[in-house]
Amino acid sequence: MLQSLLSRGNTGVPWEIGFPEVAIVATIGIAGYLLILAIYQLYFSPISKIPGPWYAALSSVWLYQRYIRGGTIFVMDELHERYGPYVRVAPNIVSVADLHSVTKIHSVKDVFIKGSVYGAMSSNLDVLIVETDPTAFKIRRKMLGSTFNQLSMNLLEPIIRGHVDACLRGIREEIKANGFCNFCELAKLLGLDTAGHIAFGAHFPPLRKEKFNNILRDTTFMLSLTLLRGLPLFGSIETLLSKIPHFAASPFFSCECRLTEFSTKAFDNVQSEIPGCKNGGLVRPLFAKISEDMNDESAKNRLTIKQARDEAFIMLLAGSDTVGLALVFLVWALLKHEDVHRKLDEELKALGNVEIEDSILQPLPYLKSFIQEGLRMYAPLQVPLPRVVPQGGRQLGDYFFPGGVEAMPATYTIMRDPEIFPNPQS
Ligand code: HEM
Repeated sequence: MLQSLLSRGNTGVPWEIGFPEVAIVATIGIAGYLLILAIYQLYFSPISKIPGPWYAALSSVWLYQRYIRGGTIFVMDELHERYGPYVRVAPNIVSVADLHSVTKIHSVKDVFIKGSVYGAMSSNLDVLIVETDPTAFKIRRKMLGSTFNQLSMNLLEPIIRGHVDACLRGIREEIKANGFCNFCELAKLLGLDTAGHIAFGAHFPPLRKEKFNNILRDTTFMLSLTLLRGLPLFGSIETLLSKIPHFAASPFFSCECRLTEFSTKAFDNVQSEIPGCKNGGLVRPLFAKISEDMNDESAKNRLTIKQARDEAFIMLLAGSDTVGLALVFLVWALLKHEDVHRKLDEELKALGNVEIEDSILQPLPYLKSFIQEGLRMYAPLQVPLPRVVPQGGRQLGDYFFPGGVEAMPATYTIMRDPEIFPNPQS
């Protein structure tokens, strides 16, 4: 009787397993696994005591869709307002709005390496900024950091001044011609021209206006493409789309070709030194030594052409958007706050009729505070910069963070903490 109930068909096998049975067992198995995982994440994970929205403890999907949609900093700020200085924003990521802990996270004495967001980029982009191995980071930092020391910056003053003057001329010309100017575009062009000049030792020959917009657009596309390439199936989708002429020729998918062509030209024209530095001083362009070493087999540390091109692309992106946006915010703040504008004017007028130089501007207290306040309120790089807690774990505030958990400094929120900055919004 029992056998007849269990048996199916006439195979004689007491219980024949077909697709529906496998599907049911698999569904129950997966549901059970997810349920156990959810209970673990919510109640037993070492960071389950850290407050935060319940869905954040279960999956990081909401966080990644927020990165894509934008406005992450405002959402994080609201979460900190609600839950306090430590908020669990993903199963393995905690947003930290406590200055004391953020100082520990960024301390040079301890190694909190860069988090998983950088990992997605580093699968396609071989650059310093996404390097997570501390030893490799130090080597690359030494190779790229030499030009940005204070001495070189002092000597480069006439070069930078030349680009600032060109930007001011551009503003006047545009206003004369149209009655207004696109300051955002001109400010980014100033950043790009200056970064390019310091990196390669000469003006970029093709870079003016319409070409500039294309390069800037391409660097932004390239960054998005790099992030997308970090996703599991994107590589295959991109290969497939690149076979279709319409997609292959689209500005988005063809940006890498144009950037490669651009950086190849820049590398071909890299100068051995930057002419026109202050007091006849010598500054080597950032990529001069790198370029020489690339062709020298005996050089200790050599970049490949791909690594050098990637670094050049990042320099152009880092030098144009950040500097451009910082200037836009500062000028906007100046126009918005008449009293600040007036005080700054008074400080500058008090200098009298002198040739304006960096050494004269540096000691001015109001100018310094204005720039610092502007960068505090409107920092141009508002992206999450998570760091991985080292093996053995660390105590941050009231919580113990096990090794491997990612701590993400909530810079926007800290910059508006009334205990650090009284009247932070004023
Ligand atoms: C107002 C302007 C700028 C702001 C606000 C800014 C902001 C930042 C921040 C926050 C980081 C750290 C990223 C991280 O830890 O993941 C960074 C790194 C970096 N920036 Fe900038 N940046 C500015 C201008 C520039 C310029 C002009 C250049 C070069 C031409 C540049 C090149 C770099 C490079 C190469 C790194 C990686 C270095 C490292 O990780 O140690 N930045 N920048």
